[in-house]
Amino acid sequence: MTGTTLSQALVQARAFLDSRDVATAGLDARVLLQAAAGVSHEALVMRGDEVLEPHAARTFENFLKSRASGKPVSRIIGHREFWGLRLGVCGETLDPRPDTETLVEAVLTRMGRGTSPYIRDLGTGSGAILLALLSALPQARGLGSDLSFGAVRMARRNALETGLSNRAAFVMSDWGQVPARLADIVVSNPPYIARGELPGLMRDVRDHDPIRALDGGADGLDPYRRIASQLPLVARPGALIAFEIGHTQDDQVRSILGDAGARVSGTGLGVVRDMAGRPRVIVARAPRR
Ligand SMILES: C[S@@+](CC[C@H](N)C(=O)[O-])C[C@H]1O[C@@H](n2cnc3c(N)ncnc32)[C@H](O)[C@@H]1O
Repeated sequence: MTGTTLSQALVQARAFLDSRDVATAGLDARVLLQAAAGVSHEALVMRGDEVLEPHAARTFENFLKSRASGKPVSRIIGHREFWGLRLGVCGETLDPRPDTETLVEAVLTRMGRGTSPYIRDLGTGSGAILLALLSALPQARGLGSDLSFGAVRMARRNALETGLSNRAAFVMSDWGQVPARLADIVVSNPPYIARGELPGLMRDVRDHDPIRALDGGADGLDPYRRIASQLPLVARPGALIAFEIGHTQDDQVRSILGDAGARVSGTGLGVVRDMAGRPRVIVARAPRR
């Protein structure tokens, strides 16, 4: 691509990714070119006649090869946009998904404005859910925890880079087993794929998301059982609980939470659907004791 302009590079890259059956060829080509050339979307439009620097051209070619081999864009450029925040990702973090924004929205629509809740995010990964909530609730504070050291390190870095580190802490912990004050809001997007289904996952997911972020045990529900049993350790009585679920798990997760004494029906409680209309989040209230 040496000697080509930004516009030409974009057209060629799109055609290349199209020919390799990348479904989102146009978008991916643009995002990868922006990252390789270090330019914004606007600059790409305004300065399309500029010639791509040789170093950027080489980087872009390598990016395109990686994408064509199935590597997700976020894994190539090292970050992803979630709830308007630019979050770093690494080999030990899940690539945060747009579906998870359903959970963030479900919590925000149930929170009084101007409140100052304390939030626990169990299995925080990149810190996506906690940082999104803190960015929308300027008086909130929170603690994200994860069993993975690399995830905790990345979440801390993301908190710093999004300017939220004064209200967010991150620690290593097996779910809720770290002593902390009882939370007003408990959120989690735990691993929820049944172990037997892992080999059949899409290549993007199976080959690039960490297994610890996916494997939910024999029936995909083990983490919900563990977290539900720990609710008295992490949630104040009546705290808002919001868990992401696989789209066929609504009945089971409601039962698990109900058996643990949580309230799973009533105004604002129960199942919340994602943009595609599938069950995506269970909202409940923590046991009253
Ligand atoms: C599906 S990922 C969700 C990550 C992030 N919350 C998000 O929504 O993008 C699940 C996370 O749970 C973490 N995890 C798995 N087992 C855990 C455990 N026993 N205790 C704490 N975290 C755990 C994984 O390391 C992973 O970061």
